Amino acid sequence: MTTTYAVLSEGLEKRFGAVRALRGLDLAVAEGTVCGLLGPNGAGKTTAVRLLTTLLRPDAGSARVAGHDLVREAAAVRRRIGVTGQDASVDGDLTGRQNLRLFARLHRVRRAAARADELLDRFGLAEAADRPAATLSGGQRRRLDLAASLVRRPEVLFLDEPTTGLDPASRNRIWDAVRALKAEGTTVLLTTQYLEEADRLADDIALVDRGRVAHTGSPAELKALVGAYAEAVVADADALVRAAAVLDRLTGSEPVLDHERRTAGAVSTDPTLTLPRLVRELDAAGVPLVDAGLRPPSLDDVFLRLTGGDGDGGEGSDEGNGGGGSDDSKELVA
Ligand SMILES: Nc1ncnc2c1ncn2[C@@H]1O[C@H](COP(=O)(O)OP(=O)(O)OP(=O)(O)O)[C@@H](O)[C@H]1O
Ligand SMILES: [Mg+2]
Repeated sequence: MTTTYAVLSEGLEKRFGAVRALRGLDLAVAEGTVCGLLGPNGAGKTTAVRLLTTLLRPDAGSARVAGHDLVREAAAVRRRIGVTGQDASVDGDLTGRQNLRLFARLHRVRRAAARADELLDRFGLAEAADRPAATLSGGQRRRLDLAASLVRRPEVLFLDEPTTGLDPASRNRIWDAVRALKAEGTTVLLTTQYLEEADRLADDIALVDRGRVAHTGSPAELKALVGAYAEAVVADADALVRAAAVLDRLTGSEPVLDHERRTAGAVSTDPTLTLPRLVRELDAAGVPLVDAGLRPPSLDDVFLRLTGGDGDGGEGSDEGNGGGGSDDSKELVA
């Protein structure tokens, strides 16, 4: 059985003046899966989405999206995808219902009114349906955006930070929607800064760092790459330094000390490290142990370790979300 890729990019590059936002992005998203693009501020996630959704033209490289060439068959790509960006796409003066009906008619969806109602219902927007979109809460608005991108039943859905700034209830609704879409066979590519989100939703994660994919794998594979997190809680302050020395030797990485909690911890790069050995070695070094542990790494550990975790890619970018006032968004691929 061969894998079919809903998104397959090779060497995508994009420059904004002196800033190299993408420096050869290789990405493969298998059909029917959820892929999380995870990376610090300025890593190039939004740029990748804008390229892959034909809103920007790549300077170099190529990609196929939903079976079509991104540049040569841009119109065909556009017909098969949906996108919810960091900027709202709905009209604030129209109600939720009017917005969805308008989208449905624009895209010649049959039974437009019924489709609009179905989506309103699905996203818990029934009571917000008849208010102007501009008066909706952030969470309602985001759900309306998502609903709008689904009017045409896209084969591939791109979501740029779908849950940033949402409360847990709204976030859960979006997560449920993503899971439901996947169950229906839709491929989803989402960007996020929330490791938990990627961990819960994504079949595969692509760690984006400075315009490239630094690592890919399932959440479990990425965690295995980093190894476990070893921790020792000690009885007195003096012992903390000795515990740290042991951890340093056993884990191969620099321990972090928490003096208040008398705890030393380090991410282990040694997959063979076990809890009994950790305790034995600490004991042999005369460390008065209160507690010791070896827990699976969180994606946080992975993220910090593999990207350096300092954000903004070190290229003097200060823009954060969105890329605001630029008129690059008008650079539509014809
Ligand atoms: N329209 C633009 N004009 C100039 N520079 C841009 C533009 N859009 C993005 N950039 C720069 O390209 C780099 C990548 O930005 P991008 O928005 O893709 O990052 P991101 O990973 O989405 O970040 P965030 O997590 O903050 O949303 C940054 O250095 C950014 O400042
Ligand atoms: Mg972004």
